Formats: sequence, C-alpha cells, structure tokens
Amino acid sequence: MKKIGILTGGGDCPGLNPVIRAVVRKGLVEGYEILGIKNGWKGLIENNTMPLSLDSVSGILPKGGTILGTSRTNPYKKSGELEKTKENFKKLGLHALIAVGGEDTLGAAAKLVKDGIPNIVGVPKTIDNDLSCTDYTFGFDTALNTAMDCIDRLHTTAESHHRIIVVEVMGRHAGWIAVEAGVAGGADVILIPEIPADIDEVCAILKNRHRRGKTFSIVVVAEGTQLKAKDLVTQEERLDEFGHVRLGGIGEILAGEIEKRTGFETRVSVLGHIQRGGSPTAFDRILGTRFGVKAIELVKDNKFGRMVALTGNKIIDVPLEEAVRALKTVDMELYEIAKVFFG
Ligand code: F6P
Repeated sequence: MKKIGILTGGGDCPGLNPVIRAVVRKGLVEGYEILGIKNGWKGLIENNTMPLSLDSVSGILPKGGTILGTSRTNPYKKSGELEKTKENFKKLGLHALIAVGGEDTLGAAAKLVKDGIPNIVGVPKTIDNDLSCTDYTFGFDTALNTAMDCIDRLHTTAESHHRIIVVEVMGRHAGWIAVEAGVAGGADVILIPEIPADIDEVCAILKNRHRRGKTFSIVVVAEGTQLKAKDLVTQEERLDEFGHVRLGGIGEILAGEIEKRTGFETRVSVLGHIQRGGSPTAFDRILGTRFGVKAIELVKDNKFGRMVALTGNKIIDVPLEEAVRALKTVDMELYEIAKVFFG
C-alpha cells in the first residue's frame, strides 16, 4: 500500500478540513494509506504525524481551521531543516506528499520538487486569493462573506451616529478581500496594496459625500496598503518569528488623519483573524472537496510538481513553479467598477 502524506501550512482558513477529508476519502478509494503531517513543514522536520482514517475525517467538513494544525515554518529558512525534511520523508516511507498552502508553503514545495522530494502535489489555500494560475483559492469566499457581513453591521452604527468608519481587512500584497467586500458591502472608498493611498484624495471624496447630505461613510482598507510618500505618516513594520512583516495599523493611521483633516468623527474597526475563522461557505467546501479529489488523481497519474487549480468552473493542474512565481494582484477592471461607487 503506497503511503501519501498531507500537510497544511501557513495561515489557517476555512476549507482546509474539506480538502483533508476529500484527500482521505478519495485516497482510500484508490487504495492509498494517508498520513497526516502535523503543523505544516514543521511536522515533517520534527517527524510529527497522525494516521488519517475514515473516522478521523468524519464530521470535519463544516469546521474551520485544520485538524492537522499549521505553522509558518519554512524548511528553507533555518539551516539543517531542509535535510531533516528530506530525511523524514524517506523515513516515513512516503510515496508522495500533498502540500496545502499559500505562497510560502507552496514556494517551499516547488523548491523541494527540485531539491530531493519530486513527488509533491500542491493545493492552493489563502483567504488573500493572491496565488497565480487559479481563479480562486479556497478560504477567500468565506473571508469575503465575513468581511461583507461586518461592513453591513458597521454601516448601521456609522449611519446612526453620523460617523466615518474605517474597516481594516486582511490582504498583505493584494486587495482582493478589500475590493470584493467593499463592492458587496457598498463601501464609499476602498484602498488596496496595489495603489498607494492618497489621504487628501480620500478626504476630498468624504467631504463631497457630506456635501450631498450623507453624514456617514465606510472606508475599507486592506492591511497591506501603503500611503503615498507625500503623506507624512509612517507605518510601523514589525517582523514575526519567521521574518514576515506583521501588518495591521494602517486603519488607525488613516482614521486619525481623516478626522484631523475633515473634522468628521472617525472610528476604526480592524477585522483581523475574524476573517480567517468560522465555517466554510458552500463555495469553499465544494472547491476544497474538488481540489482534494483532484490532488489524489494527480498522485495516481504520477503528475508531480503540479498544483490543482480552478479555471472558470473546471479543476485543472498547473506547474507548481509557475503558480508561485508571481502573486495575483487585484484586477484593475474590477477596481474601476468599485470606484464608480466612491463618494
Ligand atoms: O496569509 C493570510 C493572512 O491572513 C494575511 O492576510 C495576513 O497578512 C497574514 O495571514 C497574517 O498572518 P498571522 O496570522 O501569522 O499574523
């Protein structure tokens, strides 16, 4: 019986459990043994695993997070960990590995394919929806709906209290959540990492809105948004233990500047990890399920170094390397549509 390992790495998101369930269900049908590797690449480095059976995936479809646990560990970051990863892959007797993750996890997977573990298949996950070669990553739809719901809720307070509310959403390099939740939630201004924000322009839009009798506004800002150089405020850049910039703070800065420059009472709401939690939407459950089944099919067909992907409504596979080469940023045609509703 060939053994297949599965790991989930990077930020957790709704839809991971449906993928694990689908890999186990389809894998068992195809006669494979499935081994869960705990906490992403960390589990392979530390040889920390759990067997996965029909029983272990029963009832997990509607649950957020991942039963395998996750981490931001990347085997290429610390010396010695790459060797450990390769060593343990062999020790565990794995025929193949299914790596479920975003740019960082799949970036490591793409390198490992060349560096000694060729039998890897990738599955694209991230609420940020910023992986290339796939129309959607699972997790995004749930986060988007959560953010939209929060915007709806914040609207009532903004309107009743005649306030401006700045809603900071996730989105490190790409503003997909901001632009789509902003359009769906009727935001009056949407700021994304792809376009440096001009606070004067934002204030002009808000003042104009007030002039036409609207005493409240919703400004949606993605956490990775930068300010134009002429704006004399800076963002603090903290690093987490894996060297990633820890974002958050742009909403606060923006709210302060808007209040100072317009005189309108302005509050901020940072949605943060709320967007990563909760039960996956039907879209994410179905996408995760289709991705998981396809991942096993790729293993069966010996199509390694590939990532499952969605194009239109078809599940396809693409070279892993190509998928992690560049991030998929917001479609500017979509942003132009969003701008029609500014102010
Ligand atoms: O990668 C998904 C994501 O949620 C980003 O939107 C965000 O910048 C980051 O993870 C936050 O990561 P952490 O939970 O490790 O702080």
